[in-house]
Amino acid sequence: MNIPEELDVLLGEAAEKFRDMEKIRIVSHYDADGLSSAAIVLAASLREGKTVHLSIVKQLRPEVAERLKKENNENIVFTDLGSGHLSLVNEIGADNTLVLDHHHLSGKLNSGVHVNPHLVGMEEDTLSGAGVTYLFARKLDDKNKDLSALAVVGAIGDIQEENWRMNGLNKEIVKEAEDIGTLSRGEGLRLFGRLSRPIHKSLQYTTRPYIPDVSESESGAVQLISNLDIDLKNGDGSWKKLVDLDKEEKKELASAIIKKRVTNGIEDAGEIFGNTYTLSCFDGRLQDARELSTSLNACGRMSQADVGILSCLGDKDALGEMKSVVRGYKRTLGKLIRMVRNNDDMIEDMDGFNLLDGVGKIPENFIGTICSILQSDISKDKVLMGIAESVNGRVKISMRVPDDLDVNVGEIVGDIEETMDIEGGGHEKAGGAYVLSEEKDDFIGMVSDKIDDRT
Ligand code: C5P
Ligand code: ZN
Repeated sequence: MNIPEELDVLLGEAAEKFRDMEKIRIVSHYDADGLSSAAIVLAASLREGKTVHLSIVKQLRPEVAERLKKENNENIVFTDLGSGHLSLVNEIGADNTLVLDHHHLSGKLNSGVHVNPHLVGMEEDTLSGAGVTYLFARKLDDKNKDLSALAVVGAIGDIQEENWRMNGLNKEIVKEAEDIGTLSRGEGLRLFGRLSRPIHKSLQYTTRPYIPDVSESESGAVQLISNLDIDLKNGDGSWKKLVDLDKEEKKELASAIIKKRVTNGIEDAGEIFGNTYTLSCFDGRLQDARELSTSLNACGRMSQADVGILSCLGDKDALGEMKSVVRGYKRTLGKLIRMVRNNDDMIEDMDGFNLLDGVGKIPENFIGTICSILQSDISKDKVLMGIAESVNGRVKISMRVPDDLDVNVGEIVGDIEETMDIEGGGHEKAGGAYVLSEEKDDFIGMVSDKIDDRT
């Protein structure tokens, strides 16, 4: 694997520090990348005989830092968070600190080891939090290579693919997982649940790529396939899944999807194809890495991160429970999406971006995902900013950037953080922040100016 030398040195330092730790406090982020990271560092720690105490948080906020400080931990490992809040990490002041993250940098770590692709000038979206954590685990011991597939799940969760293909070290991790046989990569139609759902359900559940009249509409999905020359049932009477279609049938389905998109003004045919990742270490629908990633995201957002992490590690009870967590999450998400679609006035066309005001209507755990789903649907050339109510007199803001727009919201949030009391961060295409409710309009104004400067 072509790990840049500087990164490799940092990984070596982190591994060395870790070897000396006995009791370890682990803190990770609550999204799919964070839960994959947590599963990797947990497995690696237990294999080394460490005692661990793991927490999953939405954000490294001052109250979280305060709690960690009071615990007087000797050793703390942060995964998929920390880089954007190094002053808080410094304040906690554990004897030994590791930050294994990929978020934009803010400040400098006073003591400990900080591993982040931005520190060594790597390109955006070539390594996720789970990827950094995996490279660390692999540095610790070669036997941890069997955790590589989880790093792929994390990268998918953080939407690190470009045109649905991995780049840089992410791509090399895919190769490593393929080589040891835990994952196989294919190329095909990017429909949700391709291994596990009846085709009309796959179509209905697919929102990226968006299929007008079909995404999130069972009747629309049934209508699309009823016009095709595809037998929807297998010989034994069971529903066919995407994986059961032969080459000709797949072609016909792809043409129908492209036609539907083109007639609704979405020209990019290539967007419906991409890499598929099949995980041999899971059964049923979770064999599809995209589906595992979505399920982890659901667990985090439903405050049941433990179910997601234990599922990653193959725990049978957790795997059973994850199904019902995901069902509950989908039900809530579906309701919220329908609410926004049916209420045009929730979206305001602003200078440089669209504003989705979900205060009092959309829970803060859902605003980011809703923005991800609706972004391309609402506008292909504007940033979508969503707002939801949070705690401690703050609102939660989420921003999503269309693929072709050259705006880096992670950077914008970082700039604003220098002059305003916000807690934020993110990446090029997805960023967010907690902002005092009374300063919400100032924040919006600043984002608008900064988008203006950049476009
Ligand atoms: O919460 P949301 O999904 O909108 O977050 C988008 C990105 O911004 C994530 O990578 C998240 O870690 C980051 N973020 C952050 N600080 C916040 C909110 C989001 O670093 N307060
Ligand atoms: Zn991440």
